Amino acid sequence: MTEVAVVTGAASGIGRGIAHRLAQDYTVILVDLNPTNLPLVEKEIKDAGHQAYSLLGDVGKRTTHINARELAESKGNLISWVNCAGWTRGAPMHDFPNDPAVLEELINANQIGSFWGCAEAVASFTTRKVPGAIVNISSVHGRRAWPDHAVYEMTKAAVDALTRNVAVAYGPFGIRANAVAPGAIMTPALEKSFVDAPDPVARRQSLELLTPMKRIGEPSEIAEVVAFLLSTRASYLSGQSIGVEGAWTSALGVPEIDNELAKRYGLDPKTGLPKS
Ligand SMILES: NC(=O)c1ccc[n+]([C@@H]2O[C@H](COP(=O)([O-])OP(=O)(O)OC[C@H]3O[C@@H](n4cnc5c(N)ncnc54)[C@H](O)[C@@H]3O)[C@@H](O)[C@H]2O)c1
Repeated sequence: MTEVAVVTGAASGIGRGIAHRLAQDYTVILVDLNPTNLPLVEKEIKDAGHQAYSLLGDVGKRTTHINARELAESKGNLISWVNCAGWTRGAPMHDFPNDPAVLEELINANQIGSFWGCAEAVASFTTRKVPGAIVNISSVHGRRAWPDHAVYEMTKAAVDALTRNVAVAYGPFGIRANAVAPGAIMTPALEKSFVDAPDPVARRQSLELLTPMKRIGEPSEIAEVVAFLLSTRASYLSGQSIGVEGAWTSALGVPEIDNELAKRYGLDPKTGLPKS
């Protein structure tokens, strides 16, 4: 029987990358609220010779996940579920706007959406006695703080907590749950944050400099870890939130680069970036 995976937020960025990667191993159910991009991703996957079905919906609503589960179960053996849909919008806490888009809607998409995704996934796995696996997309913001991002950070810390709960409650039945906490990943959302910044080039470079690997990651680098976590190759790995962030959260700050090594590797000794 065909194995099926659900991916939310599949119409763009990291979710799109995950959907493409998982389509190599599964029939994928693509969930998103973007009616323009979702069919395009479905077409890309089909054109590559794989199976994909789209479901338009808001992950903040339980019905979206119920519909995704029904569609997935009708296509084969639903064994994997990825909650990736999410976004962020910053606002200073001392002058917080009376705007649902920076509080309620954010919590609905990132936190409530992941909860209902996990709930429908485990309901499906336990009904069919399937040792399924879940991956929730968290963030470095779930474990480290940045001004103006309190709400986003609450939602991502909640995603990590949710992941542990699923792993503990359903571990006895062979069900695993893990989170992936990306650092800066080049997606339309991140690109937009550069464009919106007063100096887009400086904004991008500041993220590269903060990251010990001195670069921004690619969605495929998240997708590969997600594929591993869902697979039986990770059969004893559960309840973890795995940072995929170029060592960003390991650093105490931005250390100086060894001059000799910088020269040997052709890097700017001040920044560690390739010499332009
Ligand atoms: N890009 C990064 O640097 C980065 C870093 C850490 C974590 N993340 C997380 O990765 C995930 C994907 O981010 P991205 O950068 O690929 O963003 P993106 O904007 O490129 O893609 C997000 C997708 O989620 C969909 N979506 C948003 N809210 C939704 C909702 N309520 N219902 C259904 N679909 C919804 C959007 O339509 C979009 O297609 C998010 O959870 C984000 O918090 C991203």
